[in-house]
Parts: sequence; structure tokens; C-alpha cells
Amino acid sequence: MKLKKLRVLITAGPTREFFDPVRFLSNPSSGKMGYALAEAALKRGAKVTLISGPVALKAPNCRVIRVVSAEEMYRAALKEARRADLILMTAAVSDYRPASYSKRKMKKSARPQTLKLVRTKDVLKELGRRKKAGQTLVGFAAETHGLAAYAKKKLKEKNLDAIVANLVGRPGAGFESDANRASLIDASGKTKDFPRMPKTAMALKIFDFVSYSSVNGKSPSRRPVR
Ligand code: CTP
Repeated sequence: MKLKKLRVLITAGPTREFFDPVRFLSNPSSGKMGYALAEAALKRGAKVTLISGPVALKAPNCRVIRVVSAEEMYRAALKEARRADLILMTAAVSDYRPASYSKRKMKKSARPQTLKLVRTKDVLKELGRRKKAGQTLVGFAAETHGLAAYAKKKLKEKNLDAIVANLVGRPGAGFESDANRASLIDASGKTKDFPRMPKTAMALKIFDFVSYSSVNGKSPSRRPVR
């Protein structure tokens, strides 16, 4: 499906939550799925903005906004979402950050240490709350178990139009892998299963099956997953 002139916003990669200048909390997200989506959307003629956490990938030929923390991701995503027709939130945003930050490197001691964590903001949930007519919001769910049930719960709670659910924590798919196996679930509960394939191929499939309103929300026809 052509995406000509559609304004597509994609978030990708992990966030880093520093607690001193040399240490942070993060996750193994490589950003590959989000970058593949950005390349696929460009190929199909979309106007793409990519908000990226720290990753080791070559930037696609589009507007790229680099962020580090969940808070930076939140601010950038909310600002950019105002101009987006289709938003795909692949970023693995950290759910917690250290409660405090030490400007000086923390020195080790012989005693065990406890790190106090506080919640970060849920970017996608806020995008769902602010979703405009004609805007399509797609989330991603990474689960080690209970995949379909948790993904459906997130779809509903975050006011999404669709969610791409994939199992993580096993070799050959998910974080860091070049390939993925996933299911696309839409708001009516319809599911499309994608077998294991390269993330570049899956990106094109996602654009084939996700339904979105036509350009710039002018005719907001929401088709279900085919
Ligand atoms: N997400 C987000 N902001 C967060 C956490 C998650 O925007 N602080 C988004 C992710 O980008 C993804 C979706 O929410 O599109 C689901 O993320 P996931 O990590 O699977 O689930 P959580 O909502 O964090 O729930 P849990 O950790 O309990 O599984």
C-alpha cells in the first residue's frame, strides 16, 4: 500500500536512565524494527520523522530526532505527534528511572547497594489520550508470556488502533535479532499472524495490514485489519 504524503512518526530503540555520569538502566532494544519501519515508510512515499534512542544503526534519509531518556522521548513524541497521521511506537521506553542522579561518579563500597526507582511516563498512553480524529496509533508489545492477552490489554488501555505483539527473551526473534515473529491485532480484536521473517520484510507487511485514515485525516476511514 502506498503511503504517499502520509506523515508518519516512528519511535525506535531503547532509552537510557542515568544515575551517575557513567551508569544507566536500559534494555537490549537494537532499534532495528523501528529503523526498518522508517525505511519502509520512506520507500512507500511517506514523510517520516524518526525519534530514536541510542542505537548503533545508520540513520534513514528522513528527519531524525535523537533522545536519550524516557522523559526526552516523551517530550519529543508529544510535540511531533501533533503533526502525525500515523504513529508507530516501537521504542522500548524504560518503565523506571533511578529516583536520584549523582553528578559525581558513585564510588563502590564493600556494602551491598540498593537503587531506588521511580516510574517514567507512559509515552504511548499519553499519545492515546491525546489522539486526534483521523490519527492512527500503533503500539508494540514485548512479552515473555501471555502474549495475546497482555497485548490486547495494552491496546485497550492505551487507546490504540493496532498493536504488534511479539515474544521476547528467546533466540531468533525480538530484541537485537534481525528477524521477528509477531501478531498484529486491531481494535476489533482481529489478528494477523506474521511468521518469522527479517524485520525489513515485516516492516512492509505492517504497512500492508495496518489500517489508517487517509492522508492528513481528510477522510478518516478506519478499515479493520484485512
Ligand atoms: N511504552 C511507552 N512508554 C513507556 C512504556 C512503554 O510509550 N513508559 C510503549 C512502548 O513503546 C510500546 C508499548 O508501550 O509501544 C508497550 O510497551 P511494553 O514494554 O510491551 O509494555 P508496558 O506498557 O511497558 O507494560 P509492561 O512493562 O507491564 O509489560
